[in-house]
Amino acid sequence: MTTLIARNLKTLNNILTDYKFREKNIGLVPTMGAIHRGHLALVNKSLKSTEKTIVTIFVNPMQFNNKEDFNNYPDSIKEDIAILTKKKVDLIFIPKKEEIYPSDFSTFVHLKKFDDILCGKNRKNHFAGVATVVLKLFSLIKPQHAFFGEKDYQQLIIIKKLVSDFNLGMKIHSVKTVRDSKGLALSSRNNLLSESQKEKASKINNILKNLSVKNIIGKKKFLGKLEKKLSINGVKNIEYLEVRDDKSLELYDEKKSLGKSYRIFIAVKFGKIRLIDNLRISK
Ligand code: PAJ
Repeated sequence: MTTLIARNLKTLNNILTDYKFREKNIGLVPTMGAIHRGHLALVNKSLKSTEKTIVTIFVNPMQFNNKEDFNNYPDSIKEDIAILTKKKVDLIFIPKKEEIYPSDFSTFVHLKKFDDILCGKNRKNHFAGVATVVLKLFSLIKPQHAFFGEKDYQQLIIIKKLVSDFNLGMKIHSVKTVRDSKGLALSSRNNLLSESQKEKASKINNILKNLSVKNIIGKKKFLGKLEKKLSINGVKNIEYLEVRDDKSLELYDEKKSLGKSYRIFIAVKFGKIRLIDNLRISK
């Protein structure tokens, strides 16, 4: 079957009914477009493990707290459609803003947890915006499976919590971060970096990889030293660099660390471009 495209709710519903999507196992891959190999890893996993793969492309205004960032968000809808059609996804849903948020839209997901740490701290209401749009997409499409990247680890944890808190029932699959040959995590924002910024950003993964809990135990100045090393390598404008539990997202606590798994989380700014990454810390 060729790839179908829906640009409004009516077409979406017609396709879901006419092509009997509802009788099948649906996998949903929500994106904001500018499709790259990171997104395609999610698509591949859905194509492999479900009967109907639906990709959504919607640059969600509610999750941007900076108008400039929203306006500068890359738009490559024609290329995206070509890539996803080649992949043979079953349906691409590309709604207009008014379809998702009609003028009288007035209900928002409020996060009690996870919203004031890491990316939530400096991006007020970002994750509330993410949770609201994802809940809306889940309600419209009612997938049995949905796919999210570890690249946005905090988002992944928040979506898992959303599904369990509201008993939504779909299975959330996580997909490992896809990187370029130098280790830079693929991101739609990488295209906005200059060559020299990209070169510096590529160092992050090399410096942070292969950490083990042994590196941290008893070393109070561990993160300070790491920050210095990053800075020497041109990664200077660090918004956060933290070690947290990979399930609860609680800060690393040596006294409670037995049997737990940890990740190191980083957000860095290169000019106006903000990049994030995270890596597992081996035990
Ligand atoms: P977007 O940044 O387009 O990412 C869509 C999905 O692709 C997310 O689950 C993200 O974690 C995953 N992804 C991005 N880069 C990746 C990489 N290098 N490796 C693996 N997975 C990667 O995240 C969003 O959009 C939005 O917040 C959204 C969930 C669509 C809600 O608006």
